[in-house]
Amino acid sequence: MSAAPLVLALESSCDESSVAIVRGQEVLCNLVSSQVPLHRRFGGVVPEVASRQHVLAMEPLIRQAVAEAGVGLEALDAVAATFAPGLMGALLVGLVAGKGLAWALDKPFIGVHHLEAHLWAAKMAEPDLPPSFLGLLVSGGHTSLVRVDGADAFTTLGATIDDAAGEAFDKVGRMLGLPYPGGPEIDRLAPSGQPKAFAFPRAWLDGGLDFSFAGLKTAVRRAVEKHEAAGLPLPVADLAASFQAAVVEVLVTKALQAARQEGLPAIALAGGVAANRGLRAALGAACAQAGLRLALPPMDLCTDNAAMIAGLAAERLRLGLTDPLSLAPAARLPLGAPRRP
Ligand code: KG4
Ligand code: ZN
Repeated sequence: MSAAPLVLALESSCDESSVAIVRGQEVLCNLVSSQVPLHRRFGGVVPEVASRQHVLAMEPLIRQAVAEAGVGLEALDAVAATFAPGLMGALLVGLVAGKGLAWALDKPFIGVHHLEAHLWAAKMAEPDLPPSFLGLLVSGGHTSLVRVDGADAFTTLGATIDDAAGEAFDKVGRMLGLPYPGGPEIDRLAPSGQPKAFAFPRAWLDGGLDFSFAGLKTAVRRAVEKHEAAGLPLPVADLAASFQAAVVEVLVTKALQAARQEGLPAIALAGGVAANRGLRAALGAACAQAGLRLALPPMDLCTDNAAMIAGLAAERLRLGLTDPLSLAPAARLPLGAPRRP
């Protein structure tokens, strides 16, 4: 197998349909068709709507990707698809399409764990990142601290015990009457508010590496209800700033703690919440002070995309890690858990 295999990957685990082609870790094309506008009027992702939209989007995206990358399907060294975790119906669309393509082309198939791919994105963006680093994965569905030692070595050190960080942003956004998804809206409003206006709780969980955002969410709800009961206008910017400050402080503190405990020289930020300007700035300052390297992948590699799936698949292929076409999808699957045929 060439050191830089040509891999086409499909991603459909949630609300973005995406197809990408890489040569090794180099992205030749990364097409993303977002369903966010479709789900907006429901205030969240509707699984059945997501699955149907993936079915409509996938084939045209594959055709477009092949045309844009200027490679024939027969030149591919492997086909990859996300197999876990995610919405079962949505996952199945990309997975079945990927397996079908691999079978028809008689090429190896590689199933990719979506969260591992989010963490791998840092390595694609910064190839000289040390082989072992700490990943802080913050997305709509997940909040985890992960030790990364290679394309087949991911160890979860801590994770949320209730809401994911992005989920908390989106739920608080809804409480504040902001459009879906609330994360980018809160990020936009926070700089014009006072981060100390409300003393929202930080869940330290006895100094461990797990997270909890449920109590914080409830505290915001109480503050909103108090204002509404008193007939006062909501201080939306102050609430956004205070909420964001509470989330960011916990994420940054625990990430630095994890890197220190594990003796890791670098931290990589991953997932959709990595777009948050408050988080980027605070993590940047903390890493600089602690003498740690910080990898902030570009946004198109942080939000859901197939390039990260293809990049991790290319590395797994190089290591000889391919999967049978019987590989089962999984709505939930811890990092490092065995794959089921
Ligand atoms: O990784 P992602 O695109 O999808 C998955 O969940 O896998 O993450 C989406 C999440 C949403 O909850 C969204 O509100 C949040 O990322 N998000 C942000 C920002 N941009 C996106 N949260 C805070 N600040 C942002 N700028
Ligand atoms: Zn994701």
